[in-house]
Amino acid sequence: SRARITLDRDFTIGEVPRRLFGSFVEHMGRCVYTGIYEPGHPEADQNGFRQDVLKLVKELGATVIRYPGGNFVSGYNWEDGIGPRENRPRRLDGAWHTVETNAFGLHEFVDWSKQAGTEIMEAINLGTRGVDAAREIVEYANHPGGTYWSDLRAKNGHKDPFNIKLWCLGNEMDGPWQIGHKTADEYGRLAQEAAKAMRFVDPSLELVACGSSNSGMPTFGAWEQTVLTHTYDEVDYVSLHAYYQEHDGDVGSFLASAVDTDYFIESVIATADAVRAKGKHKKHINLSFDEWNVWYQRGLDTEDQPHNVIKAGWREHPRVIEDKYNVTDAVVVGTLLNSLLRHGDRVKIANQAQLVNVIAPILSEENGPAWKQTIFHPFARMAELAKGQILRLSVDSDKYSNSRFGDTDLVDVSATWNEETGRVALFFANRGLEEAADVEVALRGFDARQVLRAEVLEIPEGGDRLTINTQDQPGRVGLTALEGVKATGSELRLTLPALSWAV
Ligand code: AHR
Repeated sequence: SRARITLDRDFTIGEVPRRLFGSFVEHMGRCVYTGIYEPGHPEADQNGFRQDVLKLVKELGATVIRYPGGNFVSGYNWEDGIGPRENRPRRLDGAWHTVETNAFGLHEFVDWSKQAGTEIMEAINLGTRGVDAAREIVEYANHPGGTYWSDLRAKNGHKDPFNIKLWCLGNEMDGPWQIGHKTADEYGRLAQEAAKAMRFVDPSLELVACGSSNSGMPTFGAWEQTVLTHTYDEVDYVSLHAYYQEHDGDVGSFLASAVDTDYFIESVIATADAVRAKGKHKKHINLSFDEWNVWYQRGLDTEDQPHNVIKAGWREHPRVIEDKYNVTDAVVVGTLLNSLLRHGDRVKIANQAQLVNVIAPILSEENGPAWKQTIFHPFARMAELAKGQILRLSVDSDKYSNSRFGDTDLVDVSATWNEETGRVALFFANRGLEEAADVEVALRGFDARQVLRAEVLEIPEGGDRLTINTQDQPGRVGLTALEGVKATGSELRLTLPALSWAV
């Protein structure tokens, strides 16, 4: 197939928000326990933090990490995770039908984040709890001292405040599965009052209101409108969550998933701006896409990872939703990242869900190794190279037809320009299953003299579109040099192999 892309140095969308390359650590399955934290593991430090996993987290380049849930947070008492470990209660977590030991809590996450070099995005429980717990955790985390909660933090080992700026007001409160699920009016009012009380303690907070759990929710649109009508003055962001998977072998539609991401983002922007107009507000509400990924929600049902977690009984950190990602998934993840980046003028935060083991770019075995999944690569490269200005693109690509989204571009692309280094970075996906794509990029206003780097993720020799990385073959799917990329000053030419992601 063929694609012609035009970009212009003067046509920019805005600065790349570094928080677009966020991730998510939930107390779910083996994300925390035997993921980032495993005392006694040969690679664990004195805190129990696995250094082999941390090394991969740094290579992934995640910038901000949401914690501690997810559905988990809606039944979580944050106080259970502070103070001497031997006094911390063991609790039932109803969201994932798990026994939570609370061996890992807020202090451990703060210490781990410092080692990882990542910002914290803390979610509060607006399922079973409310305004009081919301203001108290802010006092505990951010108040300098001389009060009950801030002195308790000091007593528990952290004299200096944690200074957590970014907070989620609950999680997926529109979902009937959520503990303490609410109507949009109930949630909107609660979020408004919680936000006020949190800001009374620390006015510098940035707050995220819950939007819809996905664009197919029956309340989608109306939910955002009602919630933002209540909370407009108190919050800065509204959240979006989306997970995609291949249904019944319809790979064409799966590869076009980012069409839904575009639709979802653009619809939420339109709704937020309509509330702005109606309420005569001045500021804009931005978007926090704080859960996204490929997730095989149907089809995974093995004995050690039963889909029905309740059937399996109460367990400590069981294996749940440890999806193994293949080449196709990596290409889809590349297109989802493209969609986020193309909307970087309004999507200011995004968190791939999750970081380790649970629908994650990194897998780790208890007392064993850690390795990269296929989806690690597009994320890591984009986090590394998407810097400076996002470029507005004109894309003229051959199309293919799929049952869910109709005619869809075969070549998907996003691009950035770093004024400081003079570098342009282009991120491509070829959705064509059989055919390579010849791409021409018109580089208006640039004089492209050198291709500094060109890499591709494609089907490895002897593999197919379902090939994955395993503990024994962790490098089976990775990045290799993309040959034959030519820069001629005002034009770039390259060929993308069938079903590939390239930078
Ligand atoms: O990331 C897994 C789960 O997906 C989260 O706990 C929840 O918020 C979403 O439904």
